[in-house]
Order: sequence, then structure tokens, then C-alpha cells
Amino acid sequence: MKTIDELLSEGVAGKRVFVRADLNVPLGGTTITDDGRIRAVLPTVKALAEAGARVIVASHLGRPKGAPDPAFSLAPAAARLGELLGADVAFAEDTVGTAAEAVVSGLADGQVAVIENLRFNAGETSKDDAERAAFADRLAGLADVYVGDGFGAVHRKHASVFDLPKKLPHYAGHLIATEVGVLKKLTDDVQRPYVVALGGAKVSDKLAVIDQLLGKADRLLIGGGMAYTFLKAKGYEVGISLLQEDQIPAVQEYIERAEKNGVELVLPVDVLVSTEFPDLKTKAPAHPSTVAADAIPADQEGLDIGPETRKLYASKLADAATVFWNGPMGVFEHPDYAEGTKAVAQALVEAPGFSVVGGGDSAAAVRTLGFDEKAFGHISTGGGASLEYLEGKTLPGLAALED
Ligand code: 3PG
Repeated sequence: MKTIDELLSEGVAGKRVFVRADLNVPLGGTTITDDGRIRAVLPTVKALAEAGARVIVASHLGRPKGAPDPAFSLAPAAARLGELLGADVAFAEDTVGTAAEAVVSGLADGQVAVIENLRFNAGETSKDDAERAAFADRLAGLADVYVGDGFGAVHRKHASVFDLPKKLPHYAGHLIATEVGVLKKLTDDVQRPYVVALGGAKVSDKLAVIDQLLGKADRLLIGGGMAYTFLKAKGYEVGISLLQEDQIPAVQEYIERAEKNGVELVLPVDVLVSTEFPDLKTKAPAHPSTVAADAIPADQEGLDIGPETRKLYASKLADAATVFWNGPMGVFEHPDYAEGTKAVAQALVEAPGFSVVGGGDSAAAVRTLGFDEKAFGHISTGGGASLEYLEGKTLPGLAALED
């Protein structure tokens, strides 16, 4: 994989460089609530601009349906990028139309533009190879060189991620190079004990990664909504907690395999329960009760790990030489159910080894709960992408940069 350093040493002054970023930031209306992904691509954009390139930044935002939708405009992200760069950033109100052509042809050396959400064009996400290739051809017409730096989207076989790099000289940006370097440490040369904490709502999203980790990790700590399917698989009643009945056989097989492989599979011993899901808008007090994991009342749902589990998980992380964490332990958006996620984040901070927070909700949790990002070894910008990397899958956006 050629990296941006090679591109910079070859010289980029005057060249139009298409940077495929992942500016898929959370928005409240037009306000960006977490600009982590914009900050993550800055080193690449800055380096190119300082070297005199004409930089075209492109990304998706959300999941619009292949047509323009103002709710998913990249305009706020373009404005924020300009603030962070301390420079004017031009914004094109389309992707491959007259606006994009005009904005790109108006760029002087060292200037930066953002084009509108790539997913406003159906060709971006099409399953039809020809339709994707046709859109990629039009994107290729905007630029001379491609830099892939949208790590959060490398698991998507989309036109700007997979097809476009094949049409232009292509390089990996600083962010992709860093993310891949970190994930290699978790797969090729892992320091032990290797402890993985997995949470989040659905066990079905994590099946493939658990399958891989049962051959790699020393300990696997399970929390979040998916824990209740594990508890049910052990024969406990889980009341009205989140449950994926159809996954119980797979989970039972994992419990058996963990025992056979000597992997410590750790489940909650107590949980916070309530008859109601909390109000995340008003954040009105939820008054949860704490019950043992094998005694969840029939009319209650588990919404966070309990205090004994917090201590247990912290102790299981205390000697970790490597930690990977993906998925909150509870409904951390409500203060009454944030303690489990906080405890795991704190244990990562205190663990002696290298800690990786795997994107998505866990990265957002770390920031919204007020942790210092620098206290972690690495906070990935890619939730799905980092999980699929650990599953051992070939990621289209990385494969395209390898060729
Ligand atoms: C993400 O948020 O994980 C990436 O930006 C990918 O977004 P997607 O799941 O909509 O493809």
C-alpha cells in the first residue's frame, strides 16, 4: 500500500487530489455534536494543502436514499473543516455536477474544497458494478490523484471507496495508515493478556468477531444489550430485556467453545433494571434497581451492568497488555445507566498495556463521558470497519489501495 508520504515526496503541487474522508459526524439539526472524524482527517488535508495540492474532500453522511436530502448535507462539516484548518473551504452543492466542476476548477494551489454527500448519487452505494463504475468515472474526472483516508467506510464496497481508486494513482492517507497499523497490533503481534470488552445492542452484529476472538483473545467481557442473549443462553430468565432468541444456539456454542479453548468468557453478575426504558431527551431520573444477573424480574429490563460487574470487569482489565473495546455496557446516554460504560472506559485508561477503543458508540461514549482521548492508546474512527478487520475479512477500501 503506497502512502501519502510517497505522494508528498513525488510532489503534488498543482495536482487535484481527491481525498475520500469519513465525515459521517453525528448532527443535532445542523450542529455537529462530535467533530472527532473531521479532526482525524486534518493531518492528511493539511499536509496536501501545504504541499500545494488542490484538495477535494469527499465523504458520505448518514444514509440518504441516493438523492439529495438537505438533512444529510455536508455543508456543516465543510464549515467545521474550514474552522479547524483556519482557512476558507469552498463547498460544492453537488457531487459530480456543474457546481462541483466549477468549485474544483476554481481551486488554487493549496486550497481545499468539500463536495456534497456522495450518497446523494445512487451510483455511490449501488450493488450494480456498472452503475458504481459509471459514478466512479465521473468522480475520477474531478481529480488527478486519489487519497483514501475514510477509514470508517473501508468496509463498504462503494464507488468512492472501492471503484474510484482503481481509476487514479492511489495512496493511503495518514489516518488509514495509523488505523491499519493499530489493528495489525491486535491481529499479527498481540501482547498478552489480550482482553476484549464487547457491548452494544445486538449480538448478531458481533457474532463474526466473537467467533474470531475465541481463537485469539485470553478474556472476553460481555455487556450491553447483547449480554441478555448470553444470560438467556445460560438458562437465566431476562424479563423484558433485549433478547435475540434466534441467536441463542450460536451463543451456546460460543460458551462451550470458550471453555474448550481456555478463553475466559465473562458475563455480568448483576444488572441495573427498570420496568421502563429511560427518557433520553429529558434525562428524567430513572430510579433503577440492582438485581443479580440470574434474578431479573419478569416485568423488568436490564439497562446497564451492575456495581459488582463493574468491579469484576475492572479487575479483568487490570493486568491487560492489550485491550480492545467495542460497544457500550449500557444505555450510557442516560446518566443513571452510564456507570458501566464509564467503569470500562476508566479500566482501559488504567490498564498497563495498549488500549484500543473501537469506533462508533464507544468512541462517542468516551468523549461525551468526559474522558481525555489521549489517555487511550488509540480511538478508532471506524466501528464497523475495525470489527470487520478483526473478523479477518478483506475490506474493499483497503484492498483497492493495495492494488
Ligand atoms: C460509520 O459511521 O460507521 C461509517 O461512516 C460508515 O457508515 P455506514 O455504516 O452508513 O456505511
